[in-house]
Amino acid sequence: MDHVPVLLEAAVDALRVRKDGIYIDATYGRGGHSRAILDRLGAAGRLIGLDQDPTAIAHAEQAHRGDERVVMAQRNFSELSSLIHSMGLDHQIDGLLIDLGVSSPQLDDAGRGFSFRTDGPLDMRMNPDTGISAAEWLAHVDQATLTRVIRDFGEERYAGRIARAIIEAQQHSPLVRTQQLAEVIEQAMPPAARNASAIHPATRTFQAIRIALNHELDVLEQVLEDGIDMLAPAGRLVVISFHSLEDRLVKQAIHRAAVPPPASRRSPVAVKFSPQLKKIGKLVRPDDAECARNPRARSSKMRVAEKLPREQAV
Ligand SMILES: C[S@@+](CC[C@H](N)C(=O)[O-])C[C@H]1O[C@@H](n2cnc3c(N)ncnc32)[C@H](O)[C@@H]1O
Repeated sequence: MDHVPVLLEAAVDALRVRKDGIYIDATYGRGGHSRAILDRLGAAGRLIGLDQDPTAIAHAEQAHRGDERVVMAQRNFSELSSLIHSMGLDHQIDGLLIDLGVSSPQLDDAGRGFSFRTDGPLDMRMNPDTGISAAEWLAHVDQATLTRVIRDFGEERYAGRIARAIIEAQQHSPLVRTQQLAEVIEQAMPPAARNASAIHPATRTFQAIRIALNHELDVLEQVLEDGIDMLAPAGRLVVISFHSLEDRLVKQAIHRAAVPPPASRRSPVAVKFSPQLKKIGKLVRPDDAECARNPRARSSKMRVAEKLPREQAV
């Protein structure tokens, strides 16, 4: 299935694309947002596209061949700062878009190991050329860590039972296929919970393992910090997230850069604070029509902020 971009109009409107501006799509995927940005850019504009997945970059190179406005790089967005620095574009970025999570082609390709619906090797790496697979990770993780990952990143009520079942199953025979893992998770849940859930019983645990394996929250913190810094005055930061922990990191990063810290007992006198950002609008959610058209949009949340000129200290 092709990837249906989430909050497409709202996100690209929020970037306020200028014809000659320089924009970054840090999560190219299948280029839905990139295409809409390019439609609004003139001949002097530039789009820098990133994805850590080689298949996304291969798609991009094919789709934008001959378009001199486009530069593509297969990178983790945690390395965005060094890329932009090497291009001599520090503080010159007019808009940075980050659309988190996995794309539909990644989920649909059984060989990538993200899906509990179709059997495949238990991999789950967004960049299959680095790091370890989910199978290797599960072979070494201890029960306490696994419980914490499933509870915190999956917000799974039965994290303890599921982690115990995975560790026990692992001792019998290594978990190397997605369906093998999905079955262990399903069996670990109380039957009532298994049948009552509107989502597949393995959904939350698969999501949790994917987030841990790809260090998704750590790299998000990094790109938020670097991204705010690389923006030009009036440059826009637009982030679409799909998980409450991601959204919390986005909200906190924007707040830290926009609002002076309260005076505390340790430093009762307010220190000079130079806001780097101002918040733009409220949290944006997809409307019912978008959720009906594209169920993936249901959990999405978008936040927007704008870079301030340097001298706005308060
Ligand atoms: C939700 S999809 C983006 C879809 C895209 N906006 C579109 O319209 O097609 C997320 C993409 O970001 C990539 N990605 C996720 N985390 C990344 C990271 N840390 N660095 C680079 N790419 C990342 C994934 O490989 C995936 O292709």
